[in-house]
Amino acid sequence: MLVLGIETSCDETAASIVEDGERVLSNIVSSSLPLHRRFGGVVPEIACRAHVESINYVLEQALRKASVSLKDIDLVAVTFGPGLVGALLVGISVAKAIAFSSGIPLVGVNHLEAHLQANFLRKPQPLAPFVGLVISGGHTSLVYRASVWGDYEFLGQTRDDAVGEAFDKVAKILGLGYPGGPAIDRLARFGDPERIRFPRVYLKEGSLDFSFSGIKTAVLYYVRDHLGYPIGRLTSYSEKRRQAIKDIAASFQEAVVDTLVEKTLSACRMMQARSVVVGGGVAANSRLREKLTRRLDEVGIKVYFPAASLCTDNACMVASLGYHRHRLGLVSDLSLQAVPNLGVGKS
Ligand code: KG4
Ligand code: ZN
Repeated sequence: MLVLGIETSCDETAASIVEDGERVLSNIVSSSLPLHRRFGGVVPEIACRAHVESINYVLEQALRKASVSLKDIDLVAVTFGPGLVGALLVGISVAKAIAFSSGIPLVGVNHLEAHLQANFLRKPQPLAPFVGLVISGGHTSLVYRASVWGDYEFLGQTRDDAVGEAFDKVAKILGLGYPGGPAIDRLARFGDPERIRFPRVYLKEGSLDFSFSGIKTAVLYYVRDHLGYPIGRLTSYSEKRRQAIKDIAASFQEAVVDTLVEKTLSACRMMQARSVVVGGGVAANSRLREKLTRRLDEVGIKVYFPAASLCTDNACMVASLGYHRHRLGLVSDLSLQAVPNLGVGKS
């Protein structure tokens, strides 16, 4: 079965053709990220306009790369939430138009669940029951799934900033630009993660919620008291001061990674999970990959991360999840709406 996946929930316009939920025939992504850089974050209006401008080209490329035409497609899968409402509507409108004009079924897909689905695009596939950790610029959630194709259950989420947002805000404090996650990840490799003990916020005993706004403020105060704020370009500083910034980046990253690792371990203990699947932009973080793999390995739990290119938004994950939802009998009709604040387990 050939599935056309469409993804436009944030700043990536993506289309992909996936066969039988696993075999990726094409994966085209056009990102408006460079247009948002000078604003330090995604500007919804700019993202929506960029989707409108690039969606047709992205679709054509996805079909061409897979050497198929629209009449070969058996199902259209599209992200219907969560995300920016105007951005979601571009993908949904195009998906409805294709489904209606070609007479093929349509299925709406949950973006957070699609991020976890990226782990099912390669072998070996994760074993159930598993805990899912969705970590991106807009979300930080822990979920649970008892059987491979059952529904996700909600376990916990951030009470304030998303983890990617914390990376982006701290990168801004350190003068590293946007997006901050990759910049901090790179710089942290040359810093001492034990140099500064930033707070690890675990909230009350047994809670699987997160809070990342405090650590951002702790970094801001540390920078103000030790280096002076605002920080200028890294290259304009002495070696000693540059090293201090690398140490802050590494210490911040370590605190965030520790929190993610401990909460995921608690969720596994609570739910008696056999494996963990991680998804979203922050799943690309090298320190998290290393530490979570090691800690879970110690307790006999296997962890899965998507390939780096599938951590950020893409449409393969949407097509793959759409295929499986459709096999379970899920079909959407032309009244499918964008749901900007859609939670995990809702479809
Ligand atoms: O999933 P994603 O592409 O978009 C959303 O749905 O939000 O995630 C983007 C987020 C950004 O906050 C970015 O800074 C973060 O993922 N990110 C990283 C890394 N690569 C991307 N955070 C930490 N380490 C990385 N290597
Ligand atoms: Zn995403």
